[in-house]
Amino acid sequence: MAFQTLEQFITVQQSRFPKAKGELSRLLQAISLAAKIVHREVNKAGLADILGKYGPFNVQGEEQQKLDVFADREFMDALKKGGDCCYLASEEHEQGIDLMKSTGYAGGKYMVYFDPLDGSSNIDANVPVGTIFSVYRRVSHEQSLLHESDFLQTGRQQVASGYVIYGSSTMLVYTTGQGVNGFTLDPSIGEFCLSHPNLFIPVWGTTYSVNESNYQDFAPEIKRFLQYFKNNDESDQRPFSSRYIGSLVADFHRNLIQGGIFIYPATRRYTEGKLRLMYEANPLAFIVEQAGGLAVSGREPILDILPQDLHQRTPLIIGSRDMVSLFEQFVADQALNPLDAATSFLSES
Ligand code: AHG
Ligand code: MN
Ligand code: MN
Repeated sequence: MAFQTLEQFITVQQSRFPKAKGELSRLLQAISLAAKIVHREVNKAGLADILGKYGPFNVQGEEQQKLDVFADREFMDALKKGGDCCYLASEEHEQGIDLMKSTGYAGGKYMVYFDPLDGSSNIDANVPVGTIFSVYRRVSHEQSLLHESDFLQTGRQQVASGYVIYGSSTMLVYTTGQGVNGFTLDPSIGEFCLSHPNLFIPVWGTTYSVNESNYQDFAPEIKRFLQYFKNNDESDQRPFSSRYIGSLVADFHRNLIQGGIFIYPATRRYTEGKLRLMYEANPLAFIVEQAGGLAVSGREPILDILPQDLHQRTPLIIGSRDMVSLFEQFVADQALNPLDAATSFLSES
């Protein structure tokens, strides 16, 4: 067999930590199992009665699709049955679930936040969608109810994060803080196989991803930053390409592989940005930093934000290291014109 399976990879990683009890390994395997089930459903979506709207709106006031509900149920079930979690929170539920409160069983020490189906408005058009997950270790005493301190952990305290992209192939990409690895699902054997070991994001790219229909709402530094990308300058291949799929996972994954930057700033409708800190921004920020890139809100690194609310939103600027650094230069040098800001940054780096 040419490839190492995800299961084999996880086992080898675990053996490097002799004291590890295998709980995180089991948890990751539960996620991979749910991902395979969602993959199966996504791939036959046009045939099964699974396309379209579910009916009610979710906690974000957004329309739920049938696949949102299906994916949520699969990930919830797999993580509950695994027995290694004490808390589960999903985009699709207003409240997180303290498993000790709801089942009386203490469960494990891990807390998982997830977006079961990201980009769900794209499902009916056969455009890639994804799942994003973030794993924390509880800081309060095990066996007791969860404490406020468990919920106030910053993204830096994540012990693992990752995403699944249901695209032209299905991939699972994750980190436990020891680099980033990507696995492609071989549907013929039902296994994720290591296809992208030790992933690094190129330090610079020529692609930017933003929903420009919100342009009028953007802060001046965002407008100037975008204008910089559009200016003609052959010395650094400008104008850059604009690529926006509208599924965060898919836009992020392309930029991770090819280099680029994704920007979802504050808008009039979403004054704190649209994307959710706990199950969209934080997990991808952990991945991108582990892959050598950066993720910021415009005020601070995403991973340093102290959470206040399970569903809080944040502006997100994420991608290649030097592109995000250039963005920060635009924020810092508000008085400069864009070319001066870029020139001073690029000549220093
Ligand atoms: P979700 O489907 O989980 O609600 O997430 C949708 C998100 C994200 O995937 C994407 O980047 C963004 O919404 C697109 O928003 P716009 O349609 O406003 O561009
Ligand atoms: Mn999402
Ligand atoms: Mn979603």
